[in-house]
Amino acid sequence: MKNLHPIIDDSRPKVYIETYGCQMNVNDSEVILSILQDDGYALTEDISKADVILANTCSIRDNAEQRIWGRIEQFRQQKNRRPGVLVGITGCMAERLKDKLLDSRAVDIVAGPDSYRSLPELIRSASPDSPQMNVLLSHEETYADITPVRMDKNGVSAYISIMRGCNNVCSYCIVPYTRGVERSRDPRTIVREAAELFENGYREVNLLGQNVDSYHWKDPENADRDVDFAQLLEMVAKISPDLRVRFSTSHPKDISDEVIYVMAMYENICKHIHLPVQSGSDAMLEKMRRKYTREWYLDRVRKIRSVMPDCGLTTDIIAGFCGESEQDHKDTLSLMEEAAFDSAFMFQYSERPGTLAAKKYPDDVPPEVKTARLNEIIALQNRLSRESNEKDVGKTFKVLVEGVSRRNSGELFGRASNNKVCVFPAEGCKTGDYAVVKVLSCTSATLISRIV
Ligand code: SAH
Ligand code: SF4
Ligand code: F3S
Repeated sequence: MKNLHPIIDDSRPKVYIETYGCQMNVNDSEVILSILQDDGYALTEDISKADVILANTCSIRDNAEQRIWGRIEQFRQQKNRRPGVLVGITGCMAERLKDKLLDSRAVDIVAGPDSYRSLPELIRSASPDSPQMNVLLSHEETYADITPVRMDKNGVSAYISIMRGCNNVCSYCIVPYTRGVERSRDPRTIVREAAELFENGYREVNLLGQNVDSYHWKDPENADRDVDFAQLLEMVAKISPDLRVRFSTSHPKDISDEVIYVMAMYENICKHIHLPVQSGSDAMLEKMRRKYTREWYLDRVRKIRSVMPDCGLTTDIIAGFCGESEQDHKDTLSLMEEAAFDSAFMFQYSERPGTLAAKKYPDDVPPEVKTARLNEIIALQNRLSRESNEKDVGKTFKVLVEGVSRRNSGELFGRASNNKVCVFPAEGCKTGDYAVVKVLSCTSATLISRIV
């Protein structure tokens, strides 16, 4: 069986990898490490020992990119101190800003999300006088045959990418430009990877895609054997009742009743759906090209809650999209109350060059108004999260222990099926165990519990 873990070996050349952005990028870094380990590299967590420094980057908002430009300046110091060190930029920013990155003269290698197989070759050919780049996007690449080298510390929970790219054209979003068209990975390789993780002690897999509900694998020989997302979920859930299955992200326009029923049928498919709404205003949803209305969204929420009353529901929200009025903003607040989200990722709109929104709509909500609206959204979500957690006080949950609490070494933390974090005294339990806990009290972020 392939080694799932980083090789520690001082005699090998060393790569240092920094990861930004979404869970998919975290998993991509594990694919990159796998490819480089096969080429003779070992991982180092000490940048000053690295022969190759890689930053796996994100372009989703301007501030994500600004952070990476700052890091590139710091990498330049490493290069000045130790001539011969190579700096590579991978991920979405590599795809979007290829030439600009090479022009900066601080970067030796630029590799887009579909060209990681060529990294060994790029590294071999690169030098400060001859920077190397591969940013070709693919219609087929899913890295299905590559076993990611797991960089997580706990050995309990792992990501599995089930698809790449995105065929939606949400008008604000850069992802379709940086990740290319959507393609689904052969389900047999997904099940094999999940089973191998389970045999190696992992107890949770998180199936990743930009829009998992449009997962569709076409069997090249027999169309009757096509696999959709509901079927894939079931295949992974059947590996073992002790292997938890999570997934993200669901798209409100695509999440099917079948997916909801399969979730309900299997105890080990976690009862949590991340369902980004973006806005509560129909006018904004239309301009965002999300292809659903407020009512459609709320109807999906009602369906989920009617089949799985205890299902956790989380979301993403954008404040201050083009032309957003005070009333549009209030519609977002009222939708949040109606949906009663358990938690949310909340952002100010950031215009991305080249997107439909950037071409068609002026970014006309003043920065201070964006900030004020975002703050209002965050304050409301804090209240909703606290209220949701208060409802769980007194309940018991089965949690998968993920590690030792950062605040108190005698305490463990883990997640309930609904994705809420529970903290509790260890009482002989350890990482990777399942524990049944009772909730004693809560904050807006945590359920304070004890083992029963
Ligand atoms: N594929 C996922 C989300 C990917 S990006 C989905 O469709 O839900 C994660 C989140 O970043 C999005 O849900 C959105 O809320 C936010 N986001 C994307 N583009 C943005 C932009 N230009 N400005 C601000 N937030 C953005
Ligand atoms: Fe971006 Fe929309 Fe695709 Fe999500 S579904 S990655 S928001 S284009
Ligand atoms: Fe960022 Fe690319 Fe993910 S833009 S959020 S790293 S898909």
